[in-house]
This record gives sequence, C-alpha cells and structure tokens, in this order.
Amino acid sequence: MKFPTIRSLLAIPKIIMFNFKAFPLKTAVKLPIYCSHRVKIEGVTRGSIVINAPIKRRMIRIGMNHPPGLMSEKSVAYFGISKGAKMVFNGTATISGGSSVKVLPGGVLTIGDHFYCNPFCKILCKKEITIGEDNLWGWNITVNDGDGHPLVSSNDKTNERLNPNKAVLIGNHVWIGATASLLKGSRIPDGSVVAYSSVVLKAFTEQNCVIAGYPAKVTKSNITWNH
Ligand SMILES: CC(C)(COP(=O)(O)OP(=O)(O)OC[C@H]1O[C@@H](n2cnc3c(N)ncnc32)[C@H](O)[C@@H]1OP(=O)(O)O)[C@@H](O)C(=O)NCCC(=O)NCCS
Repeated sequence: MKFPTIRSLLAIPKIIMFNFKAFPLKTAVKLPIYCSHRVKIEGVTRGSIVINAPIKRRMIRIGMNHPPGLMSEKSVAYFGISKGAKMVFNGTATISGGSSVKVLPGGVLTIGDHFYCNPFCKILCKKEITIGEDNLWGWNITVNDGDGHPLVSSNDKTNERLNPNKAVLIGNHVWIGATASLLKGSRIPDGSVVAYSSVVLKAFTEQNCVIAGYPAKVTKSNITWNH
C-alpha cells in the first residue's frame, strides 16, 4: 500500500476548495483539478473554468514539483481568473510549480489536450490565447497577448491605442524551448518547434518548422519532433 506524502495531505483542502469553487457539484466531486498546497488561487468562480473532455480525477495538475530538480520545493504557483474571463481545458494538462497563469477580464485562455509545461512559465491572457493539443513547453516561458500599458500617439488627441492586444495562437504538437517568449500576435503552426530563448513577435504560417532567434525567424523547414 502506498502512503500519502505530507505534501499530498496538505494539498487536500485546497484541491477540494478549488474544484467546488470552479465546477457544479457533479463535476466537482470527481476532483478533476489536482493542485499543490503552494498554489495561490484568485478569482476562480463557478463557470470560469470549462472542461471540454470526459471528466477524470487529477486530469488537470497545477503547481506540482515536476519534473524534480528544476525548481525549489517552496516555489509558489499562481492561478488567477478575473471576473468576465474564461479558461477552457480540452483534456489533460500539467502546469508545473512556480508557474503563473492569469486571465484578465474579457480574456479566453484555451488549453488543448495533453498540455505539459515545465516550471516558472507565465501565461498572461487579456484577449485570446489558444493552445492546441500535445504541447510541450520548457521552463521560464512567457506567453502574453498584450503589452501591459497603452501606447498612444503624442500628436493625436484621440488617445487611440497604437498597441492593441492581439491573439496568440499555438498549434497542435508544438514544442516550445525553455525561456522562449511569445508576444502579442504570435502564431505557431502545427508540428513546429520554438528554439531556446527565442522571442516570437509575429504570426508564422509554415507548419513543421523550427522558429528561432530574436526576432524569431524560420531556421529549419520540414522537421518533426518527438517526446
Ligand atoms: C530548436 C532546437 C532543438 C534546434 O536544434 P538544431 O536543429 O540542432 O539547431 P542547429 O544548432 O542546427 O541550428 C540551426 C540554426 O538555427 C540557429 N539557432 C538554433 N537555436 C537557436 C536559438 N535558440 N536562437 C537563435 N538561433 C538559433 C543556429 O544558430 C543555426 O543558424 P545557422 O544555420 O545560421 O548557423 C535547438 O536550437 C534548441 O532550442 N534546443 C533547446 C530546446 C530546449 O529549450 N530544451 C529544454 C526544454 S524542453
């Protein structure tokens, strides 16, 4: 018989609170979300998280120390959904410890089946971030569909924003190398790889390529990658 660890026992109240806040009773009792006690949860309300897949226990794992060795035991993850924002899971997902996910009012973050992100990733969604199936992300990745502060023309009194938020779209079977950043308007086609520390600033259309550098460009075509 396998005995529960102290960490898994400490997580029980948070797991129950998280599931019952987010889901109707029928779904909540199945405990689809499993989280570490070191996750700060903000703003999660009934209906703010949708799971479009058969509900299974622990199908969504948030803030776990996984894989061991990439983070300290004490790293805290953050998971926040503002009023009027939505998060959709289309299957299983692992968001490792120290990571931070924030969906702001009006934002819709969609995460495809078989999502795995290593520690210390940051997802900040103000408009739309859509992640396809079978994504593998390294550590310290940033995905942000907005800039944080408005830019306006100093000659124009209309105050029209020059830097609107733009959706970030990531395809199926995409591998994103550690410390890469995907900024507003980024699009990564199916089967592609974003190289270590690259900064993606635009929409790419070619499938199965390596996208690398700052600003990122296609550096290899007709590739495929494996787990
Ligand atoms: C994407 C990756 C796998 C591609 O490897 P590769 O095909 O062997 O790449 P190469 O070394 O042959 O480089 C091909 C070209 O891309 C450039 N390049 C590769 N990685 C780059 C990077 N991170 N940034 C900028 N340019 C890069 C190389 O300079 C080279 O350019 P050149 O042809 O002008 O000389 C690799 O670059 C990478 O990022 N590995 C780390 C992935 C990672 O983060 N793993 C841990 C977390 S899961």
